[in-house]
Amino acid sequence: MYRSWIDEERGFTLWFTGLSGAGKTTISEIVEHELKARGRRVEVLDGDIVRTNLSKGLGFSREDRIINVLRIGFVANLLTRNGVAVIVSAISPYKEARDQVRRRIIDFIEVYVDAPLEVCAERDVKGLYKKAFAGEIEQFTGVSDPYEPPAAPELHLKTSEEEPQESAQKVIEKLEFLGYLKTPAEIRDFDRA
Ligand code: ADX
Repeated sequence: MYRSWIDEERGFTLWFTGLSGAGKTTISEIVEHELKARGRRVEVLDGDIVRTNLSKGLGFSREDRIINVLRIGFVANLLTRNGVAVIVSAISPYKEARDQVRRRIIDFIEVYVDAPLEVCAERDVKGLYKKAFAGEIEQFTGVSDPYEPPAAPELHLKTSEEEPQESAQKVIEKLEFLGYLKTPAEIRDFDRA
């Protein structure tokens, strides 16, 4: 019981921000799997999915993107304060909106999923960069719309330099370091006590 400062039921919001194709969804899926394996209740709020329901009808203007991010932040806050491990995966290009969410959610962990534009465009998982460069999609983040990188994220992942598994491991270690998850050694000590 001497380790009761580690509150396993404390909720948190892991907020993945970065360009389309940087690896937000891939990493968040690995982290989701690991958190569930450790017995956490997890909810994922992914931009692509949120835009088909909660943010249906919103476009990609600065104003709409900010509304989208604030809506996601609102739901993330409700879940976080009820002990849920929340994973947000949205481009969330504007610092102002991300910081507004940070101010609302006490347990907020910003993860900058960083890959050079050329790498994201080369990956082009959804074929959207090709269209954006051809001028078929307007206001495409990184091509014809801004992305403001976080100045002081809790974690900065460079996904062109490591495998998704390694990036996800760094996220887990950060959660352990911050006290949201027990380390394997702490679980052993706890079981022995
Ligand atoms: S955000 O800017 O409002 O945070 P969000 O993460 O919800 O964006 O949605 C981004 C997804 O919408 C991208 O992964 C991509 O599939 C799709 N998309 C469609 N049009 C655009 C665009 N103009 N800019 C960026 N993403 C777009």
